[in-house]
Amino acid sequence: MLPPLDDVDRIMEVMTVAFPVEFGEAWNRRQVSDALLLAGTHHALISSEATSPPAPHDAVAGFYLSRGLFDEEELLLFAIAPTWRRRGLGHALLGHFVENARQRGKKRLFLEMRRNNPAGILYAAHGFQPIGIRPRYYRTSNGDRIDAITQELVIT
Ligand SMILES: CC(C)(COP(=O)(O)OP(=O)(O)OC[C@H]1O[C@@H](n2cnc3c(N)ncnc32)[C@H](O)[C@@H]1OP(=O)(O)O)[C@@H](O)C(=O)NCCC(=O)NCCS
Repeated sequence: MLPPLDDVDRIMEVMTVAFPVEFGEAWNRRQVSDALLLAGTHHALISSEATSPPAPHDAVAGFYLSRGLFDEEELLLFAIAPTWRRRGLGHALLGHFVENARQRGKKRLFLEMRRNNPAGILYAAHGFQPIGIRPRYYRTSNGDRIDAITQELVIT
């Protein structure tokens, strides 16, 4: 089966502008299309009008990509393009992720973020809690090391 090419295009449109280059967090096109072929991978797009999925001609503002196994799911990528930030779209997309995972029977959601990423405020607002630290896990382009914080949301 071929990956859904339109969605790969739209994910890459956001990916290339959303992640700060110095942290090396963005995936390339091949990584995304390969991931979408794997069983257990889920993704969603959100439009600038906060609809998910976006209508065919809507501007795509953001996306997430996650992978699940049994009753757990990990949020691997989550981003809103800079043009569309601070309008509640990240909040709406994260809510969509949690609800979609809940409907698929997931009980524990995980994600990993670099320490001090403002995204942590959003995750905390949705009930994610830090459960572990990987010291100096990320290396920036100038050689600095940043801790990774693992976060969990238990769905009741
Ligand atoms: C994190 C991200 C998805 C947030 O998207 P967004 O659409 O701007 O989020 P929202 O508008 O829904 O913000 C919801 C709340 O989160 C907090 N927040 C979001 N971005 C923030 C920032 N840069 N600084 C401080 N607080 C922030 C605020 O409390 C905000 O509410 P407010 O705007 O009413 O103050 C976006 O900044 C992004 O794509 N960042 C780069 C990629 C990334 O780091 N992804 C996460 C990887 S772990």
